Amino acid sequence: MTIGIIGAGALGTGVARVFAAAGVAAVISNSRGPDSLAGLVEELGQSIKAGTTEEAAQADIVVVAVRWEDVGRVIGGLPAWSGRIVIDTTNPVTFLEPGSPEDPTNPLAAYGIKPIDLGGRHSSAVFSEHVPGARVVKLFNHLDARTLAPASPVGGQTVLFYSGDDADAKAQVRALVETLGFYPIDLGALDVGGPLASLPFGPLAASHLVKI
Ligand SMILES: NC(=O)c1ccc[n+]([C@@H]2O[C@H](COP(=O)([O-])OP(=O)(O)OC[C@H]3O[C@@H](n4cnc5c(N)ncnc54)[C@H](OP(=O)(O)O)[C@@H]3O)[C@@H](O)[C@H]2O)c1
Repeated sequence: MTIGIIGAGALGTGVARVFAAAGVAAVISNSRGPDSLAGLVEELGQSIKAGTTEEAAQADIVVVAVRWEDVGRVIGGLPAWSGRIVIDTTNPVTFLEPGSPEDPTNPLAAYGIKPIDLGGRHSSAVFSEHVPGARVVKLFNHLDARTLAPASPVGGQTVLFYSGDDADAKAQVRALVETLGFYPIDLGALDVGGPLASLPFGPLAASHLVKI
């Protein structure tokens, strides 16, 4: 099984780090090309390679870790997904520029982000339209990337919520999550689990649970 990561920012590198720690091989990409990731892959060791977005997108499981505004542009034009698994890590938010003027109407301003209005739709439904033929599993989106570590400092395993509509895809992703050392919890179908664990304002978003 091959794994690709599209996006090498806070979340993409956080995911690559947990793959590297578990010895799971993956190809990671960003917008600037593999050479710009030389330092990262040297730091992470042999299991993580730098590649182009197209190379990462060819994997059996493709982790999409780009900003919501970039999703359509980055993954919309990639070759056919043909039943491969795409992990949607996104939350529909805009990242605020540092020093942006105060906005009392933005309940997430303290976090440096602003919700994007999807007209009542949930984000994975919109995301799925960009990857026709893929089997989408929502994962890695409910925790701050800085806290993405399988072992809790107080003992036990960090819980990762996931959801999706394809039982086999979910079973493969669950096995991967277990290999990484996290404790997976299945939140059900994409239109149930997605809204539960997504910003804004899923009740499980930003919930860092520990399985003792
Ligand atoms: N940060 C978190 O704590 C967190 C937690 C949960 C979920 N998420 C979600 O994860 C996603 C990524 O967030 P982030 O914080 O990691 O954002 P980020 O730090 O801004 O990283 C975005 C990455 O996307 C890359 N990218 C843009 N165009 C690309 C292309 N054509 N091909 C490949 N990569 C491309 C950028 O490449 P360059 O580096 O070359 O610019 C950058 O590495 C968002 O949807 C966010 O909502 C983030």
